[in-house]
Amino acid sequence: MTRRDRSPEFDAGFKKKFRELVEWRRDVRRFRVEPVDRALLHDLVALATRAPSVGFSQPWRFVSVESHARRTAIAENFAKANRMALDGYVGDRRARYARLKLEGLTRSPVHLAVFADDGVTAGAGLGRQTMPETIRYSVVAAVHTFWLAARCEGLGVGWVSILDPIAATSALDVPATWSLVAYLCVGWPQEEHDDPELERLGWQAREPSGSALLVR
Ligand SMILES: Cc1cc2nc3c(=O)[nH]c(=O)nc-3n(C[C@H](O)[C@H](O)[C@H](O)COP(=O)(O)O)c2cc1C
Repeated sequence: MTRRDRSPEFDAGFKKKFRELVEWRRDVRRFRVEPVDRALLHDLVALATRAPSVGFSQPWRFVSVESHARRTAIAENFAKANRMALDGYVGDRRARYARLKLEGLTRSPVHLAVFADDGVTAGAGLGRQTMPETIRYSVVAAVHTFWLAARCEGLGVGWVSILDPIAATSALDVPATWSLVAYLCVGWPQEEHDDPELERLGWQAREPSGSALLVR
C-alpha cells in the first residue's frame, strides 16, 4: 500500500500551461510525412492507461494498424461512410460538407484503433450493472488522456468516426468481444491552429461556455 502525505503541487506556471494545452489541443488532420518513434507511441499509450475506468476494469485495447491492406480497408470504409453522410445533407450544408477534410488517413504515420473490451473480467462488473456503457466511457477517458499527452509532445491527433464500426472491426481482425471506440490518426502536424477547423470553415461555432453548467 502506498500512501502520500501530501498531494503534488501544481504551481501557477503549470496551471497556466495546462489550460493552454486544453485550449490548444485541436483535432489534427494534416500531417508531415515523418515517422513517429515507436517508443514514444508506447509511452503515450502507457500513459493513457492511467485514465480512470469503471470498477478499474481497464477495458481499453489499443491496436497500431500498420498493414497496408488493413489501412486500405479503413480508407475505403471511410470513403463509403463519408459518401453516405454527404447524401444526408442538402443544399448549402451539403456543399459545405463536401469541402470539409474529415480525416488524415493517407498521410498520418500512425493509425491507432482503440477498442473497448466488452468481455473484460477485470473489475468484476463493479459500477456497470446499471450502466454497461461505462466501459466505453472509460475508453474515451483513455483516448482523451492519450490525446493531451500526444499534444504535449507536439504530435497531432485526429479522431475519425466516419466509419462503419462493424466493418472496421472485422478488417482489423480483433477478438469478437472488442468494439471500436475510436480510430485515431497520429503524426507530426503540418500546421497549428487556435480554433477548431469546423469553426474556421463556418460549419459550427463554439457554444458559449457560460451555458455549460446548469444548476438544479
Ligand atoms: C468522438 C469524436 C469523433 C470525431 N470524429 C471526427 C471525424 O470523423 N472527422 C473529423 O474530421 N473530426 C472528428 N472529430 C473531431 C471534431 O470534429 C473536433 O473535435 C471538433 O470539431 C472540435 O475541434 P477541436 O478538436 O480542434 O477542438 C471527432 C471528435 C470526437 C470527440
